[in-house]
Amino acid sequence: MTALSNFYHELWQQYISISPQALAIHHLFESEGEPLVNDHVAFRTFANSNISIDLLEDQILVLGYEYLDSYHFENKKLDARCYVHPDSPTKIFISELQWNTLSEVAQKIIKPIIQQITTSPVARLNAGRIWKIPTYRDYLTLLDESEYAAWLSVWGLRANHFTIFVNYLKKYPKLSEVVNLIQRHRYELNSVGGVIKGTEADLLIQSSTMADIVAVNFSDAGEQLISSCYYEFAQRFEQQDGTLYQGFVTNSADKIFESTHCGAKI
Ligand code: NI
Repeated sequence: MTALSNFYHELWQQYISISPQALAIHHLFESEGEPLVNDHVAFRTFANSNISIDLLEDQILVLGYEYLDSYHFENKKLDARCYVHPDSPTKIFISELQWNTLSEVAQKIIKPIIQQITTSPVARLNAGRIWKIPTYRDYLTLLDESEYAAWLSVWGLRANHFTIFVNYLKKYPKLSEVVNLIQRHRYELNSVGGVIKGTEADLLIQSSTMADIVAVNFSDAGEQLISSCYYEFAQRFEQQDGTLYQGFVTNSADKIFESTHCGAKI
């Protein structure tokens, strides 16, 4: 196994351990005889911390990835970067929360989390949560202001989602066909701004499931049901030079971020 396939194997195992829906959808496509290629995996982290993108980036570059582009999400207070690999169609998308621009209440919850993260060695991208779980009360406070902050405070460093690269599918080479299949099997899709985000003119269209809901144990509230991870589907279009567009569309990604936004609701 190469370092790259080993990296994705471990990441996928960790992901499906809290995202049974992704595994079931994966099996659904496999049972249809479809080859499964990942378009990208996405990570979330804290800016201004010992796990900022600047510090995690080395692990991505060591795998052979090259920096492609940066993105800014004003409303969600996020910055992100995308990396591409010369030998793999799977991109890496990593975003970081500018948590020191959140409210004082949120900062007060996040600061002790940041203080628990040591510099050396820098945590692995699949290290999971390397701080004590927040109280359920604090989780809900974060959720109210930043779904992203709430998710990250519980789940830590791991894949937030994997993404099926629709272009590689044989029977369902269009996102609309994938959406039909998924809906026929009664999975709930994120419908914020429409089930299909983006247009052909953007060169990238995307859909995603709503995140799985799993039970997590909190010290102050016992087991509570919260959002874990979602599965995404992406179809890309050719640029003028005939190659597939590799970047991301901030307006679409902004809405995809909402896929983990069901909070404590079932
Ligand atoms: Ni994505």
